[in-house]
Amino acid sequence: MSEFDFLSGIDDVPPTPILIAPQPVLREVAREVRPEDIAFIRDQLPGMFSAMYKAPGIGLAAPQVGLGMRFALVDVAEEDAPREPMLLINPEIVTEAEQMAAREEGCLSLPNQYAEVVRPESIRVRYRNLAGETIERDASGLLATCIQHEMDHLDGILFVDHLSTLKRNIIMRRLAKEQKLGRR
Ligand code: NI
Repeated sequence: MSEFDFLSGIDDVPPTPILIAPQPVLREVAREVRPEDIAFIRDQLPGMFSAMYKAPGIGLAAPQVGLGMRFALVDVAEEDAPREPMLLINPEIVTEAEQMAAREEGCLSLPNQYAEVVRPESIRVRYRNLAGETIERDASGLLATCIQHEMDHLDGILFVDHLSTLKRNIIMRRLAKEQKLGRR
């Protein structure tokens, strides 16, 4: 049985609502996942994957659905390619490249807002899966960006925090205005 068997029927699963900034929980440091949390997390996954795929997005961290726990979903596969779901529980960066890369980022909690963010080009990440196994994997390019972005969420950090105060304020004001107008 695969970790993600439920994905075959994911289109029929109601998406878990995604919180939009400036929701306070998005700014909190999430706590470590403990073994006794795994059953709960397993129950959250279908709704969370459904929300990520419907958006569509390539990553979703637990705080974005109001859960202050250190886990996140990632799938950077092209839209018409087979899915490549990843679940990272208690992820840590083991090593990161000195070489930096700039890539345009967005976030499901800051809908319609995009900016270039500079981060290490490649990383080695260690995390747990649902079975409690430790996994280490190298990531570069879009996957490296996405994993770092999702891991930031677990520490209450949003991609706009990597920008100048001026740029961040412009984006946050624009987001607030658009949300007020009821745009998504
Ligand atoms: Ni995000």
